[in-house]
Parts: sequence; C-alpha cells; structure tokens
Amino acid sequence: MSKSGKNRKSAPLVSADGVSLDIGISDQDRAAIAAELSKLLADSYTLYLTTHNFHWNVTGPMFNALHQLFMDQYTEEWQALDDIAERIRSLGHYAPGTYGEFVRLSSIAEPEGVPDATQMIQLLVKGNEAVAKTARAALKCADAADDAPTADLLTRRLDVHEKNAWMLRSMLQ
Ligand SMILES: [Fe+2]
Repeated sequence: MSKSGKNRKSAPLVSADGVSLDIGISDQDRAAIAAELSKLLADSYTLYLTTHNFHWNVTGPMFNALHQLFMDQYTEEWQALDDIAERIRSLGHYAPGTYGEFVRLSSIAEPEGVPDATQMIQLLVKGNEAVAKTARAALKCADAADDAPTADLLTRRLDVHEKNAWMLRSMLQ
C-alpha cells in the first residue's frame, strides 16, 4: 500500500483542537513532527534569548564586534521563531509559548550569571550546535512522512545554525 493510502485509513483526520484536517499526512505523523518542531522551537527560543542577553551584557576588548555579531544572530533567530511555531499550527497542533514549556522542552541550559566574552562565545557555539542537532533529528521525522515544507524549514535552520557556530568558533581560534 502507498504511504498516502496508509494515511487515508486513519479517518477522520483532525487537528489538536478537533477541527477536521486532511493535508495528506496522517494524524500520527503530524503529531510526531509537531512534537519535534516544539523541541526545536524551545531550543531556538532559548538560544535567541541567550544571544540577546549576551548582546546586552558582553564586555571587554571585543565588545564592538561581539555586540554587533550577537545582534545579527538574535535578530535572525527571532524571525525564525514565528516560522517554526506557525508550521506547528499548519500541522494542526498548538505551539508551546510559555517559559515553563520552553524550559521543559529545551535541550539548552540557561547561562548562569554573566559569563566573560570568551565563555559567551563558547556557550553560543554549543547552543547553535544543539539547535542544529535538534533540527537534524526533526528532519528525519519530516522526511519519513514526506513533509516537504517542514523539511525545507529545517534545512534552512540547519544552514543558519551551522554557519553561526562556525563564525563563533572561528573567533576562538
Ligand atoms: Fe541593542
């Protein structure tokens, strides 16, 4: 049986709020992808906030370069949060949107105190790598369900976070 034929068996197809929804992806697959995207949203929000925090609080001889680099990164990350959350909604599920949910879902720990500039760069390298790993796991899930729009979004996020990690890593060498 084809994948779409298998999907059709689980009628009626419904969204999280009980409204009929049939975009050719089974309820089970949509739930699994939405769960992966929720983890990505939590990681992305935590990284966004940490990067903005470091934009405010960085000190030292690299101040100008880091203040600007952190702003470039958090601005892009802020925009992406909306794309991730709205993809979850398009799949018929609710997006997490509270600090409590983000802390529970995120794989990234919040920074303690105010790290020095080098520690900030190290933490942001790890944060960007963590988001990339979460996006890569979600991509496997989206690919398995032939969910091209989610796969496209995740590919773009992977590109951004791997590049951010490289730029930050380069400042440590
Ligand atoms: Fe600013």
